[in-house]
Amino acid sequence: MASEESSQNVLEWVQNDKHRFLHAVYRVGNLERTIKFYTECFGMKLLRQRDIPEEKYSNAFLGFGPEESHFVVELTYNYGVDKYDIGTGFGHFAIATEDVYKLVEDIRAKGGKVTREPGPVKGGTSTTVIAFVQDPDGYIFELIQRGPTPEPLCQVMLRVGDLDRSIAFYEKACGMKLLKKKDNPDYKYTLAMMGYAKEEETTVLELTYNYGVTEYTKGNAYAQIALGTDDVYKSAEAIRIVIQELGGKITREPGPIPGLSTKITSFLDPDGWKVVFVDNADFLKELQ
Ligand code: CO
Repeated sequence: MASEESSQNVLEWVQNDKHRFLHAVYRVGNLERTIKFYTECFGMKLLRQRDIPEEKYSNAFLGFGPEESHFVVELTYNYGVDKYDIGTGFGHFAIATEDVYKLVEDIRAKGGKVTREPGPVKGGTSTTVIAFVQDPDGYIFELIQRGPTPEPLCQVMLRVGDLDRSIAFYEKACGMKLLKKKDNPDYKYTLAMMGYAKEEETTVLELTYNYGVTEYTKGNAYAQIALGTDDVYKSAEAIRIVIQELGGKITREPGPIPGLSTKITSFLDPDGWKVVFVDNADFLKELQ
């Protein structure tokens, strides 16, 4: 059991650790179909792809820039599984673009499904134009109009049962900052944007609390986000401390992945959302 002083030290260390959003991992029913949709409709690039027949799966990484500096998606295809349940807890990913109207028209022309036509955000005073589209597996992508940005893949939205608990958890365990908190009583939800830099310049975790809703289904489609850290062992120590206070669970003790030498640790947040911490230096080596 850690002493109070060493607990304090490791929690302070988290605030100075070098964190970054690396990728979001989720399952798709047809890898080629999703690659085609993301490259043609969203303008993503296929960054790497590998097939692991011994374990009966393949994966593909796509994004708007190299993994060394960008948040990307990691798609997993499990042999023979063509359909997944997305559940009620997963919200959406988001893509920032300079012209939502044009992007929506392009997506529609290529057969994409538009679930919310472009227009200003409802409720509140924001004039930001957004739209929602659905990918071939049913994952929702929010399209957000903003000026040129270094990180077009800009949100992962997850629903949570207690917003303040989640904010405290991601601040303390992951070193995120609360970038924005907004209550929207007309539509009965509150959201919090959590991240490591300004909302317009980086990927954020958008947490949504719907009034009175504390439980969601997780389904089996969305898997996790991966974050970079300089030290998975210290990160795991901090997570363990925060879990005692706020809930959650370590699902993989810190250490190298067998056969790959990349050091990781993983855990569930208080709502059961999975996060993987990946050693920053190992991750860069893996990309070479
Ligand atoms: Co959003």
